[in-house]
This record gives sequence, C-alpha cells and structure tokens, in this order.
Amino acid sequence: MQISGDDLTTFLEDYRWLCGVLMEEELFFRRENRYRLSTFAEAERTVYADRVFMTRYMNGLLMTQLWWANHSSVLRYYRDSFLPGNKQQCRHLEIGPGHGLFLYLAASAPNAGAIAGWDVSPASIAITRSAMNAMGATRPFDLSLVNMFEAPGGQFDSLTFSEVLEHLENPAQALAAIANLLAPSGRAFIQAPVNSPAPDHISLFRSPEEIVELVRESGLVVEDTLFAPPAGVTLERAREMALTISTVVVASKSG
Ligand SMILES: C[S@@+](CC[C@H](N)C(=O)[O-])C[C@H]1O[C@@H](n2cnc3c(N)ncnc32)[C@H](O)[C@@H]1O
Repeated sequence: MQISGDDLTTFLEDYRWLCGVLMEEELFFRRENRYRLSTFAEAERTVYADRVFMTRYMNGLLMTQLWWANHSSVLRYYRDSFLPGNKQQCRHLEIGPGHGLFLYLAASAPNAGAIAGWDVSPASIAITRSAMNAMGATRPFDLSLVNMFEAPGGQFDSLTFSEVLEHLENPAQALAAIANLLAPSGRAFIQAPVNSPAPDHISLFRSPEEIVELVRESGLVVEDTLFAPPAGVTLERAREMALTISTVVVASKSG
C-alpha cells in the first residue's frame, strides 16, 4: 500500500495486464516446450529498454509477491530465515532489484550495513528508487545502472539474486560472477523459477535440482534450499505437470 500510494488501481490494472502477457507465454511454452526468447539482446530490446512495458511488468510483479503462493513463501523465507543469518554491518548487494521489495527488506534488517543495487534497466532502477523512498528506507542505498557481466567489482557479505538467472543466456557465468563478488564467508540468496514462461525469460530450468546443481558447480557451498509450488498444488503435482516452482538456494563462499 505504501508503494502504490494513491495509485492502487494502476497497480491492479498492471497485474491484470501482466497475467494476460504471461498467459500468451504459457500457451507458447505448452505448445513448443521451450521459452519464446533465446537471447539477452531480444529481452533488452523488447522489455528492459521499454520504460512503459517495464513499469507495468514490475508493478504487476510486485502484486504477485502478495498473491502468488510461491512468491509469498519465498519472500517470507527471505525475511525470516535468510536476512537474520547475515552478520552485523553486512555489506549487501542485490542484482536486479526491480520492484524493490527485497532490497527494502535487506535495508531494514537490523544487521544491515552498506546497501547497493545493480540493474541493467534504467526503468527498473527508477522503480526501485521510488519504491525504497515510498517505503521510507532510512539507511542510505546506492543504485547503479550495471550489467552484472560488466560489474565494477566489489566484495559483499550478502548478495540477493532473485528472478534474474532465468533471464540470462549463460547462467553458469552469472553464478561464477556472484561467487567472485562474495567476500569470504559471504552468503548468496539465489532464487529462480523452473518452467516459468515470461516475456524476458531465456534459460529454461526444468527441475529445482537443476538449479541447485548449477549453484554447486559454481564452487559455492549450498547451505539451504526451498522449493515453493504455486497455490493449490503440491510440489509433487507441480513436478508432474511441469508447473512453475520457485527455487531458492542459499549458498556461501568458503571462508
Ligand atoms: C524479474 S526482475 C526481478 C525483480 C525482483 N528481484 C524479484 O525477485 O521479483 C529481473 C530484473 O533483473 C534485471 N536484469 C536482467 N539481466 C540483468 C543483468 N545482466 N544485469 C543486471 N540486471 C539484470 C532486469 O532489468 C530486472 O529488473
């Protein structure tokens, strides 16, 4: 409510619009057994660089944090399990903060130190900034237009990477970059969905285990996992029907 302010109707309309966009992608996925896009350049041109599309997308995605059971359990896990495990004054980075909810929770945690967010989309950066201000983030935060593959470097104790891996052409390279950005004993919250067609999804993961294995192969130590099915189905049923399963992997860099 704080983020939407007087404009709740717009957010609700954007959520409805997003459901229509996702339905088109779902139909394509069911017919073709693949995601429609295969290159980052296409996603950048048709989604990230399109301010209006991106704003509606992030507004809709914000509402899914409340209404989609898989997203709300991920957010709850992030707030109640991941963030409290960070050390005091931890240096935190989020790559792809989008609607800003995860970044706001990280900045509000009592153990937070410096807070940074990187995103490749100028529209996303503007949305994150306005959400952080609307929610009344008190700690200073630094938002920068950065493609994670051209990252300026840095060392972080805590890193959030939620719903970005499936947007990339080379997820293994992204996980290697994350491992490099983590300080010794640093922790990463990596979240990506399986079987989740969307207008900017490129890498198709077919099982949660595939994502866990990729994280392991990056050299990080897997500390915990959460596999969250959508509303109304069990994890087993979601697997059988190739439905979306939000997959969280908490991984650390050996100290
Ligand atoms: C679907 S949003 C994720 C929003 C939020 N983190 C969440 O979990 O709902 C994906 C974000 O990743 C950003 N992104 C995609 N590729 C990126 C890259 N190579 N470097 C940095 N950000 C990227 C997009 O611009 C977008 O803001």
